[in-house]
Amino acid sequence: MKASITAHKQFSVAKIDPRLYGSFIEHLGRAVYTGIYEPTHPSADDNGFRQDVIDLIKEIDVPVTRYPGGNFVSAYNWEDGIGPKENRPTRLDLAWHTAESNQVGIHEFADWAEKVGTEMMLAVNLGSRGLDEARSFLEYVNHPGGTYWSDLRKHNGREEPWNVKLWCLGNEMDGPWQIGQKTASEYGRVAFETAKAMRSFDNNIELVVCGSSSPMMDTYPEWEATVLDYTYETVNYISLHMYFENNDTNTSHYLAKAEQLGNYIETVASIIRMTKAKKRSDHNVYISFDEWNVWYHSREQDKPTIEGENGWPHAPALLEDIYDFADTLQVACILNTFIRNADVVKIGCMAQLVNVIAPIMTVEGGPAWRQSIFYPYMYASQYGRGTALNLAVTCDRYETNFASNVSYLDISCVESDQDDSLTFFIVNRHETEAIDFDIALEGFEHTRVIEDKIIGGYDLTQTNSPEAETIQPQDGKDSTIIERKFNASIEPLTYRMVRLGL
Ligand code: AHR
Repeated sequence: MKASITAHKQFSVAKIDPRLYGSFIEHLGRAVYTGIYEPTHPSADDNGFRQDVIDLIKEIDVPVTRYPGGNFVSAYNWEDGIGPKENRPTRLDLAWHTAESNQVGIHEFADWAEKVGTEMMLAVNLGSRGLDEARSFLEYVNHPGGTYWSDLRKHNGREEPWNVKLWCLGNEMDGPWQIGQKTASEYGRVAFETAKAMRSFDNNIELVVCGSSSPMMDTYPEWEATVLDYTYETVNYISLHMYFENNDTNTSHYLAKAEQLGNYIETVASIIRMTKAKKRSDHNVYISFDEWNVWYHSREQDKPTIEGENGWPHAPALLEDIYDFADTLQVACILNTFIRNADVVKIGCMAQLVNVIAPIMTVEGGPAWRQSIFYPYMYASQYGRGTALNLAVTCDRYETNFASNVSYLDISCVESDQDDSLTFFIVNRHETEAIDFDIALEGFEHTRVIEDKIIGGYDLTQTNSPEAETIQPQDGKDSTIIERKFNASIEPLTYRMVRLGL
């Protein structure tokens, strides 16, 4: 099969917000305890954080990390996680049917974030609590001093405010599983009033209002229209979530699910535009895609714990999906979709970062290791910063029962703002045919290949493990550049990342 692509310097989608490559740490399973925090681990620093995990996160270079939930935040008391650790209460976490020791709270997470070099994106509890808790938390975190909450922060060891910019107004408030679920109108009102109070403290913070938990929700997309009607002028982002399952025997069809993601983004972008017009507003709202990933491998094994058959364990293994090679390709297609929609999607958070549906796993007392989905995320984060280009792609297409006209070649392109380079992220979604492709470079001169990496040739069910990180990038070969055209071939069901120096 053949494909032709044209990249033109003048045809850009938008400047990418680096926060598109963010992630998420929730108090869930082993994400925090024995994930990022394990004081008895040989690599633990003075604060109890695993240095081996920090080193792997730094390889990805995660610009922003959402915290502390997720479903967890909807019954969380942030005050439980401050002050001397020995005085902190253990509480029941109703979202995951576990016990929360509160040994990690905002101070510990902030120290960790500083060390990792990631911006904090904090969520307030609009499930079991509301406006009052949110404004106190904001004051505790961001006020310099001289008030009850800011002086309490100082007393607890942090002199300077953290000045956190990004705040989520609750989590998945449309979901029946959520503690304190609300209708769109109930939530819209609470979110608006909370946003108003938070803005009275500081009008420069960025606020994220909850959109739908998935495009499969019965309330989607009416939810977005109603919630934005209440909150449009007071928020900066609407949050969307989507998780992918592989229930297809045909991998081309599994990989076409990223098209549903594209439709979801387009629909919500239209609702944003419609609301902006309706309000005669100059203000812009963007999408914060702050939960996304493949999630299905662990669902059955997690049921007994989540349904309460195991009592209230502290930090049990939960949502520990072990990703296979098909998931590597899926994650690459998801990231391509975000890059192609960088004009409306400004923030993205892979859910999650460590142990819980994560690219990084740990063994308690043992090593940290990279899952099969680690590399497409790492390459996008490292080389996907700059301007997304709008490519013209000619390639054979296929049909599924949920998406039509799906290109076998899935590709995105970023012109770097850090050096003179152009990076292509490419997936061949065909099960059996290689694709010979050429990329015409218009408006770019003096092109040469500076890096070419391939992840392919594995059985689709191949996984990595603590013993063997089998799924690894290899060097790409056999490409040529003739008269400003890059020519190469990509094997069936393969990922390729090509960086061209300009
Ligand atoms: O990321 C796992 C869970 O998925 C989050 O807690 C919740 O927001 C979503 O349903």
